[in-house]
Amino acid sequence: MIGLALTSALCCALALACGSAAAQAPETTAAMIARDIRVAETQYGQLLERLRRQPGFPRSLAKGEIVTVGPLDWTSGFFPGTLWYLYEATGQARWRSAATRYTADTAPAKFDKSQHDLGFMLGSGYGNGLRLTGDPSYRDAMLAGATTLLTRFDPKVGSIQSWDLWPGSGWAYPVIIDNMMNLELLMWAARASGEARYREVAIAHADTTLQHHFRPDGSSFHLVDYDPRTGAVRARVTVQGKADASAWARGQAWGLYGFTMMYRETGKDAYLHQAQKIAAFYMRHPRLPADKVPYWDFDDPAIPAAPRDAAAAAIASAALLELARHSDATLAPGYRVFAEQTLRSLSSPAYLAAPGTNGGFLLMHATGHKPAGTEIDVPLNYADYYFLEALLRLRASLPAAAP
Ligand code: GLY
Repeated sequence: MIGLALTSALCCALALACGSAAAQAPETTAAMIARDIRVAETQYGQLLERLRRQPGFPRSLAKGEIVTVGPLDWTSGFFPGTLWYLYEATGQARWRSAATRYTADTAPAKFDKSQHDLGFMLGSGYGNGLRLTGDPSYRDAMLAGATTLLTRFDPKVGSIQSWDLWPGSGWAYPVIIDNMMNLELLMWAARASGEARYREVAIAHADTTLQHHFRPDGSSFHLVDYDPRTGAVRARVTVQGKADASAWARGQAWGLYGFTMMYRETGKDAYLHQAQKIAAFYMRHPRLPADKVPYWDFDDPAIPAAPRDAAAAAIASAALLELARHSDATLAPGYRVFAEQTLRSLSSPAYLAAPGTNGGFLLMHATGHKPAGTEIDVPLNYADYYFLEALLRLRASLPAAAP
């Protein structure tokens, strides 16, 4: 039902836009990006105001209330990261000062050995802060986090363990496709410190993922469980997808982003080819809706009455804009056009919150963990983060004089 309602909403929005097309020229890409950034400023200004009465990092919205989390939640870095992107987009000191404050609050993550998500938690806040300000204390925090992350690597498996063993899970060494995203922190640490061990672990993890996580059609399993005594695969299953054999949309987006990033960092052709294979699977999927915002899982039998995942769409857009930079002329234009079409959908009233609504978040209609019955068809902080990242990448790709 959510899927149908969303399709109707987007059709109405497009019909309105078409109805006035004779009188009004279509919005240029630069104008769309500028409008999105204005909306983001309004929304995040309101979100910051609401947070004066509520500690923590905003993650989502439930029953009209902002859900906040602590610094050790895997999403903690996305709020400061979005504030950094707003600073980058506007140059305004108020975003820098808010970003600085919330980045500092993620500090406990750098010593957290209990999870693999340190790349998300530290890279989004500290990483962007370092890039935009050069603050040396941010470099120290990132290096500390990267060193912590190494403790979860087992050379026998050749992977970083994603999750600790939940009681009753039956797993021995679970690794999820999302984990590719944390390798950016390690690749940065190798460059910043001059120590090869960070890079070696990142490449070993990517190679192991390449070998065991993918199906012949380019889609990926969510979780591969390894035997830590031998490195052999014990099982390929899902936790956040519809079924073990299904294609969970955000997992495909994480893989696309992760292998594109690892190609940028290493120049290894195998990573570029894998990213292009994932892109082909995702972009040509027969159940990808016309607006290019995927259902939460490409194989949910409830499609088209299944929820969308605007977060997957935002992550894939950011990834494709980068993949276009590394691909030849036979592929690059298609990636750029697809990413821009997706961002136009996300910038429409079907997904972009009207100012003053959506609890202060930017995008509507993301899905966090459908099998657990949580965060279904809601705003999510990482949807906003990757949406802004993709918009800034798109802006950077425009000719300087674009109107
Ligand atoms: N674990 C990251 C995600 O839900 O996509």
